[in-house]
Amino acid sequence: MPKPKYTTHLGMVDILPDESPKWRALEQIIHEEAAKFNFEEIRTPIMEQTELIVRGVGQLTDIVSKEIFAFEKGDSHYVLRPELTAPVVRAFVEHHMQQRGGSQKLYYIGPMFRAEKPQKGRQRQFHQFGLEILGSDDPIADVECIAFMMRIYQRIGIKNFDLKLNSVGDPESREAYKEALRAYLKPNLDEMSELSQKRFEKNPMRILDSKEEEDQPFIEQAPVIQDYLNEESKEHFEKVKSYLDDLGIAYSLDPHLVRGMDYYTRTAFELTSSDLGSQDALAGGGRYDLLVEEVGGPSTPAVGFAAGMERLMIACEELGIELAEEKSVDVYFVTLGDAARKWALTHLPKTREAGLSATMDYMSRSMKAQMKDANRENALYTLIIGDNELNEGKFTLRNMKESEEMPLSFDEIIEKLTKKLL
Ligand code: HAM
Repeated sequence: MPKPKYTTHLGMVDILPDESPKWRALEQIIHEEAAKFNFEEIRTPIMEQTELIVRGVGQLTDIVSKEIFAFEKGDSHYVLRPELTAPVVRAFVEHHMQQRGGSQKLYYIGPMFRAEKPQKGRQRQFHQFGLEILGSDDPIADVECIAFMMRIYQRIGIKNFDLKLNSVGDPESREAYKEALRAYLKPNLDEMSELSQKRFEKNPMRILDSKEEEDQPFIEQAPVIQDYLNEESKEHFEKVKSYLDDLGIAYSLDPHLVRGMDYYTRTAFELTSSDLGSQDALAGGGRYDLLVEEVGGPSTPAVGFAAGMERLMIACEELGIELAEEKSVDVYFVTLGDAARKWALTHLPKTREAGLSATMDYMSRSMKAQMKDANRENALYTLIIGDNELNEGKFTLRNMKESEEMPLSFDEIIEKLTKKLL
C-alpha cells in the first residue's frame, strides 16, 4: 500500500468502525453505573482558558510545564484540556452550582490532550471517564468515589489491580511535613536532579514523585507524611480506610503517592494493574479541598478521580474480555433487479420501524456478491427479493445460521422476526 499523504498527528488515534462498538459498550456501562449511584453527567468544552489550567493543575507540574497544547487567538489564550478536574471546578463556580443544593456529583467521559511521548497506553489524545464530588468533606464521599471507580472494573471483569492509598494532608499538616522534608533533603540537594532542585522550595512533596534515578536513594529514606498529619487529617484518613474495609475494598498504603497535580489535599489514590506495561496506572484521584477557592469560588471541599479508557481497553485485551458483542444486522435485503431494489428501499423503513435492524446492497451487485456481503455483515436473516417474489407477494426468508428458507409475505416476515429477535 502506498504511504498516505495525510496521517493523524503523533499520539492521536482514530477509533475505527471495528473498534467503536467496544467504546460504546464501555460508555454504556459507565452511564448505567453512574445512574445507579445517582451521579449526573457534565460535558464541558474541549478548550479552556490556559490560566485556569496553569492555576488549577499547577505551574510546576509536568502537565503544565511540558505537556499542554496551548495557543493564542486574538486576545484569548486557549488550551486543549489535559484533564477535567479544573474545568469541572470552573463550571461549578461559573454556574454557581452550589445553589442547586447538596453535593454535586458530576461524572464525565471524553477526550483529554497531553503532549507526552507516545507509547503503549500513553497517547496525546486519550480518553478519561471520571467523577468529581463537590461540596462534601465527609470520608463517605471519598469512599463512594473509589467504590464507583472500582465498580466499573468489577463489572467489566478486571480484577488484577492494586489500589494504592495515601493522605497528603491538609494545609497545616502539609506545611509541617514540607518543612521536615526540606530539612531532610537540603544536605543532599546538590546531588539531586535539576527538576527536584526546582521543586524544592515551592513544592518539595512532588520530589517524592520523581522518576529520576539520582533522586531515588533520597526518596526511599525520606520522612513519611503519616507522621506529620494533624488530628483532623489523621481522623479523616482513618475513616476512609475503615469505610473501605467495611466495603471489602482492598488497598495498600503508599506514603510516597503524591500524584501529578498540585491541587490534592488529604486522600490520594491510584489504581494500578499488572496487566498493563510500564504505563500501569488505570486511574487516579483524590481530594482537592482548596481548588474551588483557588479558582475564585466559595470554599468547597471536593474529591474525584479519573480513569484512562485506553488503558482499560488494553487490560481487557490482555485478559481476553470482549466488551461488545459481535456486530450483526437482523435482515439483509438481497435484491435482484431495479423493481426489487425500489421495493427494498421502501420496505427498509417499515422493517426498522418494527424495531429490527435492516440493510441492503448499495452497489447493484450480483446475488452471489450480496450473499457474501450479508455474511460479512453477519446478517441473521436474508430476504431474497426478485420479480417472481414481487408478483406473488411472497419472499424467501433465509435463516443464515441454520440455512433454512421459507416463503412468507412481508407482514408475516416482520411478525416472525419481531417475535424471534425482539
Ligand atoms: P491523572 O492521574 O493525570 O489524573 O489521569 C488519570 C488517568 O488517565 C491515568 O491514571 C491514566 O489511566 C490516564 N492517562 C493519563 N495520561 C494519559 C495519556 N497520556 N494517555 C493515556 N492515558 C492517560 C487526572 O487526570 C485527575 N484529573 C484525576 C482526578 C479527578 N483527581 C481528582 N479528580
